[in-house]
Amino acid sequence: MTSSLSNRKIVVGVTGGIAAYKTAELVRLLVKAGAEVHVVLTEGGAHFVTAVTFQALSGNPVWTDAWDARMDNNMAHIDLTRGADAVLVAPASADFMSKLAHGMANDLLSTLCLARDCPLLIAPAMNRQMWENPATQRNVRLLRDDGIALLGPDAGDQACGEVGNGRMLEPEDIFEGLVAFLSPKLLAGRRVLMTAGPTFEAIDPVRGITNISSGKMGYALAQACARAGAEVLLVSGPVALDTPYGVSRIDVHSASQMHQAVMHHVAAHDIFIGVAAVADYRPVEVATDKIKKTGAEMSVALTRNPDILAGVAALPSPPFCVGFAAESRALDEYAEGKRVAKKLQLVVGNLVQDGMGGDDNRVTLYDAAGRHPLPAASKIEVAQGIVEHLARMLPARAPH
Ligand code: CTP
Repeated sequence: MTSSLSNRKIVVGVTGGIAAYKTAELVRLLVKAGAEVHVVLTEGGAHFVTAVTFQALSGNPVWTDAWDARMDNNMAHIDLTRGADAVLVAPASADFMSKLAHGMANDLLSTLCLARDCPLLIAPAMNRQMWENPATQRNVRLLRDDGIALLGPDAGDQACGEVGNGRMLEPEDIFEGLVAFLSPKLLAGRRVLMTAGPTFEAIDPVRGITNISSGKMGYALAQACARAGAEVLLVSGPVALDTPYGVSRIDVHSASQMHQAVMHHVAAHDIFIGVAAVADYRPVEVATDKIKKTGAEMSVALTRNPDILAGVAALPSPPFCVGFAAESRALDEYAEGKRVAKKLQLVVGNLVQDGMGGDDNRVTLYDAAGRHPLPAASKIEVAQGIVEHLARMLPARAPH
């Protein structure tokens, strides 16, 4: 996780819904990311999780009562949001959304929402029929018109035993939605196509050639692009990672499948970032049956895979192309060589011993103006650094 929430003041509102137990984890994530968190529980919320839980997790007093005398001036509804970067209500019940939509102020949380001068985000949580009810949908439209951001809801199993829309987003996704909301929109309106992860080139039904790429750098970059306001489509080789919030993903195995997916979608995108560790070769033939061992040696004939990145950069009207160069030595020479040979605007170079597989990375950026080392950091922080550099290089967008 990043430090983009460090020293941000976030007021978390908790209304009455069983999803309130997940808000405890959300508060923990916010605090871990360095945010100053103040929790306001409604009376309904306090039926599900106690103030003690939120006080212990946030390290701050928890507020429920508009008449709480602990605030010196008795104005908790004003003081709590003073200097706040956002109010985040999770879960937001159907009842609370209705109150918000109609400007009601009959408890502490609804009053401070009305009195705030910072953004308000809500994560709805309710039974699917309550969510689909025309009254709730009418309230959703009113809230959106008022500039209130909705995070979710999600579809899936519900606590009531039904399946459908209305489930609160998972805490990690609400956290990511808030970080994205507060991030500078350096890539607003841009459409980014990316590849990430390793490829898997089958030899027979149970074996294949692959590499040790974890996909973490590509996924972090997809996340950073989404946070920066881009629409992101990620073509991913086999990895054990969750799709970052707000990113669309197509799963592939082989380099040929990755190539096909990229070529199918590239025309609709203005930036292409090749992060995948694409196998340069694949077996000439894939055995239909499992290969049996015979002699002391065996060999597999290999043939070259298409270079996806070079192919995209060679299109008649190519997108802005970014490549990666993972080298074990002579980084400057190889990375700059790849930039020129593949006709790329930007190459992100790193030494494999500095990044592959791990959570941190140290990269140097290579463009026509020279080399630009970025400080060693977590992959998401490095990804944010790459996005900032990339955004500065992009041509201004033509007015629509
Ligand atoms: N790439 C690609 N398609 C390939 C091979 C690589 O799109 N078939 C992309 C990678 O996603 C990365 C960059 O090209 O952005 C890496 O360049 P490349 O020269 O292929 O790196 P290596 O495979 O490491 O090359 P070499 O073995 O020659 O160093």
